[in-house]
Amino acid sequence: MTIHRVVFLALLLLSGTVLLGSRVESAAAKACPRNCDTDIAYMVCPSSGERIIRKVCTNCCAAQKGCKLFRSNGSIKCTGT
Ligand SMILES: *[C@@H]1O[C@H](CO)[C@@H](O)[C@H](O)[C@H]1NC(C)=O
Repeated sequence: MTIHRVVFLALLLLSGTVLLGSRVESAAAKACPRNCDTDIAYMVCPSSGERIIRKVCTNCCAAQKGCKLFRSNGSIKCTGT
């Protein structure tokens, strides 16, 4: 087996792993997108002692259970499930 063949096989294995990994990731993203909801100004979570957490990058789906997500005008948008 030449060194080129080894490198080729290693790349093949690596690309397969990356492909598989990205597929798993996209499946998880479909279940619950990890994007930032720009509508959310701050959130309050029971786990943080009801403290206001600003500049959060979350959304209604990805929010921790019990977290309340508020808009900048103070109206509640949703609660994490
Ligand atoms: C805040 O903004 C949302 C979305 O624009 C609106 O539905 C809601 O009525 C507003 N609440 C207040 C208290 O202004």
